[in-house]
Amino acid sequence: MKRDRKRVLITGGAGFLGSHLCERLLVAGHEVLCVDNFYTGSKDNVLRLLDSPHFELMRHDITFPLYVEVDEIYNLACPASPVHYQFDPVQTTKTSVHGAINMLGLAKRVRATILQASTSEVYGDPEVHPQTEAYWGRVNPIGPRACYDEGKRCAETLFFDYFGQHGLAIKVARIFNTYGPRMHPGDGRVVSNFIVQALSNKPITIYGDGTQTRSFCYVDDLVDGLIRLMASEPEFTGPVNLGNPTEISIGALAEQIVAMTGTGSSIVYRPALQDDPTQRCPDISLAGRHLDWRPTIELEKGLQETIAYFEKLHSSNQLTY
Ligand SMILES: NC(=O)c1ccc[n+]([C@@H]2O[C@H](COP(=O)([O-])OP(=O)(O)OC[C@H]3O[C@@H](n4cnc5c(N)ncnc54)[C@H](O)[C@@H]3O)[C@@H](O)[C@H]2O)c1
Repeated sequence: MKRDRKRVLITGGAGFLGSHLCERLLVAGHEVLCVDNFYTGSKDNVLRLLDSPHFELMRHDITFPLYVEVDEIYNLACPASPVHYQFDPVQTTKTSVHGAINMLGLAKRVRATILQASTSEVYGDPEVHPQTEAYWGRVNPIGPRACYDEGKRCAETLFFDYFGQHGLAIKVARIFNTYGPRMHPGDGRVVSNFIVQALSNKPITIYGDGTQTRSFCYVDDLVDGLIRLMASEPEFTGPVNLGNPTEISIGALAEQIVAMTGTGSSIVYRPALQDDPTQRCPDISLAGRHLDWRPTIELEKGLQETIAYFEKLHSSNQLTY
């Protein structure tokens, strides 16, 4: 084996972010083991990688132990969108917590470096903007989003306790809203929702008055950040925010997607969702300092790529939601 070729395990590798990460690591010359239970991910996302002798796909649920020999682990397995993670909230918490315990145990056994895909949702509905990593968050522990938010918070706790207690090499990324090709068309996340509604000429639904803001990071930028974090100096564990700090209101996003798709869809307003944050924006100065990372892909360019992906699904009648 080439000396710099690593054996990399990606849990949730058949999902949106995971499939892009698999691809990038293969291109970089690594051996990639993609582990997924296909809850929200699909074989289609990694179909073109199956011919590579350096790629392996394994159906496995990370709430059960896994015994493999690897050098690095990216722990991405977890449904990421509210519709999916709220469908079976107990399983969501199990995936975050039992999954983290299993993957940390594996990393400890084989002395692998392990990276956790944490989330901006650990900040809950924040009182400070933009959010730095020092902010502890404001999460409702018994609300509908708690299975995800608290599951991810507990996973972070486990990562830092394995680091403190066992000296494990850990990295924790707090990922903010990311979008791009291979998002699940039915996941209810705002970018995919608006594009799917626009392409199907259905009304574009905004929950709340549309003034709430979000910031969107294109998937290629995010994957670049994850890879840089994994390669960062051993002392740097994070947590580190990865996201795009350019804010846009949900109303403005809807208008941009209407313009770019040329749809005849109208924009309709529905009551705001419970515990939905009014503003979400990362402070990414820590990532800039330690990883020399910042997003480079403009929203318009990223939306073009994403719309093109969904148009392809639409024209082959695979756009169901
Ligand atoms: N996309 C974002 O904007 C975003 C933001 C913050 C954090 N994240 C985190 O990044 C990771 C990937 O998110 P994504 O957007 O690619 O979501 P996704 O739903 O497309 O991918 C998650 C993958 O994990 C798999 N999975 C779920 N439970 C599993 C289990 N118990 N065992 C094995 N596999 C399991 C799913 O089948 C899917 O392939 C998640 O951990 C998510 O919490 C994503």
